[in-house]
Amino acid sequence: MNDRIVPPLTRDGRNTGAAPVTYGHGERPPRGDYARARPDYTCSQDWAAYSRADHALYARLYARQIGQLKDRASDAFVASLAALDAAQTIPHLDEVSEKLYRATRWQLVAVPGLIPEEAFFNLLAERKFPVTEWLRREDEFDYVVEPDIFHDFFGHVPLLFDPVFADYMQAYGLGGRKATSLTSCEYLARLYWYTVEFGLIQSDRGLRIYGAGILSSATETRYSLVDPAPHRVAFDLERIMRSRYRIDAFQETYFVIDSFEQLFEATAPDFAPLYERLRDLPEIPANALLPGERTYSPNPLA
Ligand SMILES: [Fe+2]
Repeated sequence: MNDRIVPPLTRDGRNTGAAPVTYGHGERPPRGDYARARPDYTCSQDWAAYSRADHALYARLYARQIGQLKDRASDAFVASLAALDAAQTIPHLDEVSEKLYRATRWQLVAVPGLIPEEAFFNLLAERKFPVTEWLRREDEFDYVVEPDIFHDFFGHVPLLFDPVFADYMQAYGLGGRKATSLTSCEYLARLYWYTVEFGLIQSDRGLRIYGAGILSSATETRYSLVDPAPHRVAFDLERIMRSRYRIDAFQETYFVIDSFEQLFEATAPDFAPLYERLRDLPEIPANALLPGERTYSPNPLA
């Protein structure tokens, strides 16, 4: 997403430094009004502050993206997004949060923008998903460096209505709480990146997208599924945790799950012994394919 965000320090474009929040290598502050944030970095969404132009921009982003997703997004994502009826204006997070709580006991909380890793893990562990309150500017229509409300809401919220995926997200947060070193945070960052942000899922009609980073991208939706260039490798927790990733270009490798159950089950064991084992193994470059790996063909050109 941004060449100044370098693993292992961040995941999901979110800052991992201790408070006060610093951005990337600290050369500029994150966007957002942190003065309004509570100690846990949440804030109330100032919905009245969005302008008509903001709502119109959001609606155009939504319309463009929904046009990209037919036969590309996972069934669970498509069904949940449609039920949200959030195409026309920037959503009221409290209203969606109530629906979400009834569905999976998750809630949405507004945040000013990038938040520290520890705060992020804590919120996920409490089944609270942080949604950035600001929307990108018009001149960022095609690309925004930091996650905005369009990415966070459109890309992430629909799958929180899926019970198994919702449990996976909480398990991830709980795993983050237990991560005690920068190295283990890096392994977790890679897991988040290659699943929650850039994951693909197998279906009986070919590969489908469930990763928010792809689902909210105007161009990676098609690339991730049909371009012959990237590798599409069967999900393997240890392999993912060893794999570096691209933050400034399309992914060179995607990992494909069979089901959200597979994701959730992978996070069930204590990661501590795995971290120990990984410390003795070399990293895997983002573009590497290992001997004997199970790969998937791209979807036929549609
Ligand atoms: Fe994201």
